[in-house]
Order: sequence, then structure tokens, then C-alpha cells
Amino acid sequence: MTRHTESSESAESTDSSESSEPTESEASYDRRRLRQWAAGRARAEGVARRDLLRLVAAAGLASTVPVALSAPRAAAAGPGIVKPLPPEWFIIHGTNAEARFESFADTGYTTPAARFFVRNHTTTPRIDAASWKLNIWGDGLTGRAREFTLADLRRFKPVTRTAFVECAGNARSFFATQQGRAGSGTPWTTGAIGVAHWRGVRLSDVLQKAGLSRRAVDIMPRGLDDEYVTSDGTSYGRVRRPMPVSKALDDVILAYEMNGSPLPPDHGYPVRLLAPSWVGISSIKWLGDIEVSTEPLYSPWNTDFYRLFGDAYPAEGSAPLTRQTIKSAFELPWNADLSAHTRHRLTGRAWSAGGAITRVEVSADGGASWRAARLHDRGQEGSWTRWSFPWKPTRTGPAELLSRATDSAGRTQPATTVHNTQGYLFGAVIRHAVTVSG
Ligand code: MTE
Repeated sequence: MTRHTESSESAESTDSSESSEPTESEASYDRRRLRQWAAGRARAEGVARRDLLRLVAAAGLASTVPVALSAPRAAAAGPGIVKPLPPEWFIIHGTNAEARFESFADTGYTTPAARFFVRNHTTTPRIDAASWKLNIWGDGLTGRAREFTLADLRRFKPVTRTAFVECAGNARSFFATQQGRAGSGTPWTTGAIGVAHWRGVRLSDVLQKAGLSRRAVDIMPRGLDDEYVTSDGTSYGRVRRPMPVSKALDDVILAYEMNGSPLPPDHGYPVRLLAPSWVGISSIKWLGDIEVSTEPLYSPWNTDFYRLFGDAYPAEGSAPLTRQTIKSAFELPWNADLSAHTRHRLTGRAWSAGGAITRVEVSADGGASWRAARLHDRGQEGSWTRWSFPWKPTRTGPAELLSRATDSAGRTQPATTVHNTQGYLFGAVIRHAVTVSG
């Protein structure tokens, strides 16, 4: 396995999912990259010039480019993201957009595509579905490489899976705010998750059709978005992350629809991988090719990123991350103002990658006592369960609300999560600050 030592530092500090070391913030990475585009020193593959001009303006680079590029609209999409990102639904973190968890209170079970968080290493490419092809290749096939058009894929039996996509770094900010020790990277609160009905075809069906060898051990799906380039100019190539054949043949799909409509550009149009229960990076968007290998494969996304590093882990890190963890959250703004002596119906969601949610408890006294919340959905591993809890505060002033989920595997959210330097897989109880006013 290759560990990038020097470059992994800078990669870590500029990986827009996982970066905010002082050396270069996501925002400055993004500005530098846009500046390169504006100067014609980088490829803006698949990004319309119109979009590029808007992005350059939005990034505040108007002084380095012609005057016509300035004057961004206040509610313009974030850098490199196509859909509108109204501030009541999204918090922008560099190239990423976090959903405001409290805004899920008025969605149903699934997250509408317009409200779904976006996690982009670079920018959303614009891909022509009519000429798009998926290339499956490698020594793990019994014969030559095979290409599949979208029409070819649609000829396989379709399947629908209801599943979350959740970033491995979701809730990372609580390592800093609750445990006093930050993890590097985007300071997500709880909104780097969404649940959708994903429709597509089984990856196993397509791999069998392509001629999967019994000796194959890994696949490496790769996206068509721009190469991921760090501040020192190192290119990590296109976003790609190996996955064992056992997972690929289990429940992974090649999704072409989200909630009954074609995938939107930001979520992988025309086809993305959907790896239920696994960390979001496994669900490669804008899929271009899949290598099938008889040898284990590596990429920076399973060596430098998406492993656990830190005091509690070996120097080369933990094994590459696979399943997400367990979490629960209130659909309440941070520091929400709640009136005293009123019965409030608090709502939230809980989810686990290791089993169905079987219990959610709420504490309003710092964890001294817990009472069961009411569950509103039948639990399903890799998806969420909505819950509600009546609360009538009596004392005015600052307060904390805690929620704690348990899943069918018997796992309950702990009080703390063991620290790792990149702040992945936070699963501890979140202490949600509110204010009770008289
Ligand atoms: N696939 C490609 N090609 N490029 C990316 O930047 N980001 C990954 C994954 N797939 C990414 C990708 C990460 S880290 C996450 S969490 C999910 O996509 C986010 O999916 P979403 O943007 O549809 O919410």
C-alpha cells in the first residue's frame, strides 16, 4: 500500500470533504482553482462557460477577471454546484452544501433532490447522457472490456433501494465543540445526509454480463468529474475508491433515478453507484468506468482518506472505512428559542448502518434521565426513522436536548466517540443547545 506522506498532508488540508488545516482552507483551494480556470491553466471539463463565470464571481475573484464577471446574485449556487442553494435549506462549505437538518421537518420520509446535501471534491460536471458510456475493464473480467450505454443499462431488471447517502465526516464539528479536539475537514453539523429512493440496476447483474472472473477481488469505480488537485499541484486523479467484490455483488446498484426522476446533475447524472450503508465516498457519482481486478486495489480514497488515523489507531490507519455509524438528531435550529410552559412537539430522525432503529430516547437534564421518543417509521438498516417527543420546559434560560438511538444490532449511541484526526464517523450523543424563554 502506498501512503503519500508529504502530499497526504496537503491532500488532507485541501480535500474539500476533509480539509480545513490552517495551510489552505477549502475556500482558498476553491478560489485558487477557479483562478486557474479563469487564466486558462486548468481544464473546466464539462462546466459551461456561463457557469464558470458565475462561480468566479461568487468566489470573489472579480478583481482578477474582467468586470463583466462580477455581481454575483446573493442566492447563487455555491461554487461548482448547479442547483440553487437557498440559505434556508443549505449551509455552504467551500465546494460542498450541507442541508440544514431542521429544514427536514417539512419534508416527508425522503429528502427531495432540491434539498439533498452535495459533497463535491471539485465541481459538478455536465454530462451528455446520450453519448455517455460506462466502461468496465480489467484483468478481473474473463474477456475484453465492455461498454454499456444508458439504454443498455435500462434493459436490465430495475430495482429500487431506499437508502441514505451520508458523508463519513457528517457531524465532524462535534469532535471540536463537544470533545475539545477537532478533526480536519469540513465542519459538518448533522446535515451531510439525505435519504432517497434510488432506482437503477444491480451492479452484480452488470458485472456478470461483463464477464466477471471468479478470481476478481476488487472493483474500482471512478467518476467523470475533474481530477482532484491539491494546493501544491499534485493531482490525485479522478475520484475513485476501491470496493471488495463481495460488497459489489451484495446490494450495490448503478442508480439512474432519485425519487422517481432522473438523477440531477449534482447527484451523479446520468449514473452513480449507490452503496447502501457504506460511507458516502463509496457511492461514486458521474460514473465513467469500473476497473475489475484480481489484485487488491488502492487509491488515495482508501489509503490517505477514509481510514481512521490518530492516537488510538496504527500508523497506517485503520482498515478502510466501510459502514457508517449510528446517529440521531433533532429537527431544530441550533439555539432554537422555545417558550417555557408550552408543550412542544420535538421531532427528529435517527439512523444506523448496522441495523434498524429500535429505540430513541431523549434527555432534557444533561443525560441524567431518559424518556422514550415515539417512532414513526418501521426501522430499516441504512435508512432513517422519524421520531417525536413532547417537551414542556419549565425553567427559562439556556438548555441542552440530547437524543440517543439504539439499533437492532444492540448498538446505542455512546457519550463520546474516540478521536481520529480526520474526524470521521462521529456517533456520540449530540448535545443540542436551545434557549427557553419566558
Ligand atoms: N463521486 C465523485 N465522482 N466525486 C465526488 O466528489 N463525493 C463523494 C461521493 N461520490 C464524490 C463522489 C462523497 S465524499 C459523498 S459524501 C457523496 O458522493 C455525496 O453524494 P451527494 O453529493 O449526492 O450527496
